[in-house]
Amino acid sequence: QPVLRSDYRPPTYWIENVELEFDLDPRETLVTARIAVRRNSQQPSDTLDLAGENLKLQSVAIDGKRLDGDQYQLRDDGMTLLNLPESCQIETKVLVSPLTNKSLSGLYQTSGNYCTQCEAVGFRRITYFLDRPDVMTTYRVTIRGDKKTCPVMLSNGNRIAAKDLDDGRHEVVWEDPFPKPSYLFALVAGNLKCHRGTFTTRSGRDVALEIWVEPQNIDKCEHALVSLQKSMKWDEDVFGLEYDLDIYMIVAVNDFNMGAMENKGLNVFNSKYVLALPDTATDEDYMLIEAVIAHEYFHNWTGNRVTCRDWFQLTLKEGLTVFRDQQFTADQTSAAVKRIDDVSGLRAGQFVEDSGPMAHPIRPESYISMDNFYTATVYRKGAEIIRMYHTILGAEGFRRGMDLYFQRHDNSAVTCDDFRAAMADANNINFDRFDRWYSQAGTPELTVTESWDAAKSEYALTMTQSYPTLPGGNPGTEDRNPVPLPVRVGLLDAESGEEIEQHSGVVMLDTETETFTFSGLSAKPIASVLRGFSAPVRLRMQRDNEELAFLMANDNDPFNRWDAGQTLATKLLIDAANGLADGRALELSEQFRDAFGRVLSDNSFDEAFKALALTLPRESVLGQEMDVIDPDSLHTARQFYRRRLAECFQSELTSLYNELAADGAYKNDQKSINRRRLKNVVLAYLSVLDVPACISRVSNQFHQADNMTDKQAALSLLANLDVPERDAALAAFYDQYKTDPLVIDKWYAVQALSSRPDTIEHVKQLTSHPDFSVDNPNRVRSLIGAFTQNQVRFHQADGAGYKLLADYVLEIESANPQLAARLVAAFNSYRRFDESRQTQMQDELKRIAEHPGLCKDVHEIVQRALHF
Ligand code: ARG
Ligand code: ZN
Repeated sequence: QPVLRSDYRPPTYWIENVELEFDLDPRETLVTARIAVRRNSQQPSDTLDLAGENLKLQSVAIDGKRLDGDQYQLRDDGMTLLNLPESCQIETKVLVSPLTNKSLSGLYQTSGNYCTQCEAVGFRRITYFLDRPDVMTTYRVTIRGDKKTCPVMLSNGNRIAAKDLDDGRHEVVWEDPFPKPSYLFALVAGNLKCHRGTFTTRSGRDVALEIWVEPQNIDKCEHALVSLQKSMKWDEDVFGLEYDLDIYMIVAVNDFNMGAMENKGLNVFNSKYVLALPDTATDEDYMLIEAVIAHEYFHNWTGNRVTCRDWFQLTLKEGLTVFRDQQFTADQTSAAVKRIDDVSGLRAGQFVEDSGPMAHPIRPESYISMDNFYTATVYRKGAEIIRMYHTILGAEGFRRGMDLYFQRHDNSAVTCDDFRAAMADANNINFDRFDRWYSQAGTPELTVTESWDAAKSEYALTMTQSYPTLPGGNPGTEDRNPVPLPVRVGLLDAESGEEIEQHSGVVMLDTETETFTFSGLSAKPIASVLRGFSAPVRLRMQRDNEELAFLMANDNDPFNRWDAGQTLATKLLIDAANGLADGRALELSEQFRDAFGRVLSDNSFDEAFKALALTLPRESVLGQEMDVIDPDSLHTARQFYRRRLAECFQSELTSLYNELAADGAYKNDQKSINRRRLKNVVLAYLSVLDVPACISRVSNQFHQADNMTDKQAALSLLANLDVPERDAALAAFYDQYKTDPLVIDKWYAVQALSSRPDTIEHVKQLTSHPDFSVDNPNRVRSLIGAFTQNQVRFHQADGAGYKLLADYVLEIESANPQLAARLVAAFNSYRRFDESRQTQMQDELKRIAEHPGLCKDVHEIVQRALHF
């Protein structure tokens, strides 16, 4: 049943062009496909397999002659055509039901409008086709629909004709001149309004930019439009890449399984990543919208013009495009803060995935459902691998590699090896060993030890790499070899804290172990290792607290400066949590208190960096460093630290808050955004003090805020408390925003993320709230998904959290397998907990596994977990 990477075979036929006709109807949309095929001379055969799923076949004809039952074989997952000539036209007619399609794959209805999602394998739910990315062809699409309910009908490329029909319907024809794989097909129809803009490319082409949304959202599109214009300009400036059609459309829909989709010329977005006004979207939402718009736009070259040969190559387009959107955001905001945010995300999500049952190489070897492999590993670790080419080659060398990649592969479907070869050939460098990054799973550990030879004035760093063993026997987890690791290093003078410039740079660890020697030093320096997180590894270096505090105060590399503080906090918090089990009393380390105080009073930092430096590592990240995760003592220890820090620095925090809160009316420039970020971190510390003044400060911020960032920040702090202000704020918030689903998602999430002991009861109550619906993925993620991220409450010792999750997975799985599979992955870390929690999670996994007719997406995740 699994699909193997090694099974790749080219298709027996190529498609020369396709004509699609849609007669839209909620329950019975008729899809007519005329596909011109030609035999692949490399793969001679007269049979052709077309994929098809959930289709009601009406007829099939070859060159106009209707086929009888014995000229083709029909299966649940497709049809095989027999005795085909060298070339011919295949015509199929099928019926599909958009209204009842809750999987959000294929053609479906959302808020009464039609839309499609075809990546990875949704096109086969629209018509019989060679639904694989190496089959690229040109599309001509005719859409017929009701004029009243579907005044707007869109597809890829250019609109070439439109006319009214006599039965109250109308017809529009779209043609996309660029050959594309079926996963980039899109159709949208319904009652939508357009926010328009333009962009003139550097060679002078005028591009019409169109953001299509439901009428009530038309005032929330300007930020998305500006983000698109910035992205288009950036890709020209940095990579010399221009847009290639005369029109670029983005459609926002409420029901969407992922963030967005880069369909050629017609992106479909989760409305969360389009719609924004200061009153409804936080600063983080604004930033994410800009980043996702950029991501999908950048796919036009890295994904669409050059696409993947098969789905195992997914990181070819996703890792590369994530890297590109990260660089874009770094240029728009602050590179250091962006890097810290990205690495935090990698550690919290990808590191966990890479050490559990779903561990897989960025280029997986096998899958049951491809949708399960749109993972943090393929995307985020994939982006880190691309970043290493960039680190090794420099910006110019990387650009040379990209230029050669497009020169060689424009308009084709290629592999990760092709990308690696382009990077190597353009720079005359050997990247053979880099292939291991594509075939090995797990996070390498980089152990660094130091030595100082005073007689020779030499300092040396010995670096050793290894992989942790993984049970479970998944492909890519055995027989792993050393990978090339670019390690950015700097040496600091231990007295002055000054950088010793001549020794700063990148060393390459190409083997298991190597010693790097730095000579001509007058005294033992302090090393700053893995600056900028130059390779996706866990760094193991014995450091005493003084050294970490020194780096926190002096490192020139902002990432490592931040990371030193996190490492110090992690050490102390884990120790405190372990101590609780041994009956040791909690105590705030003086060293940490002093270091925290220095950061608080240091005005050389920008506010966003300071906000990060003052934030303790999240409980889920701390958990990774424990032998057995103890969610309760971790939570207790971290809360204790937060409270003690707030007590020690109450007056400093209060005056900083007051200073930042005096900013006045909302502005959305970067400086104001950074200041809000810091203000809300400070407010979070103050909120844990049981002083009435502190609680009313939070409550006042909530009621007086003129923007969603401040409002949501205050609400999420109140949600943790047991005070009347909490209920008042939650009620007021609901009342004010009840007609805006994206804001109500926030209302659900703050309650699901509350640290209150009765959170699970609230979550249960919220599932019967009239606004809760399992059909809307955003809503499910904001309540159930958020709850699974609440480590201390989801892992409640009695297993009530586990039962709740399993119940919802089973409720959702048959309608929306992709969503259910995402949720069930919260059990993947079960081996990291104590025996009682392990057993309870295992029991829920078994209960799910035994569910009759379980969808394959959930089946795959659950089986991997149970066999880990
Ligand atoms: N290519 C999209 C993106 O990264 C993701 C779509 C994946 N969808 C899915 N159902 N697996 O921008
Ligand atoms: Zn993508």
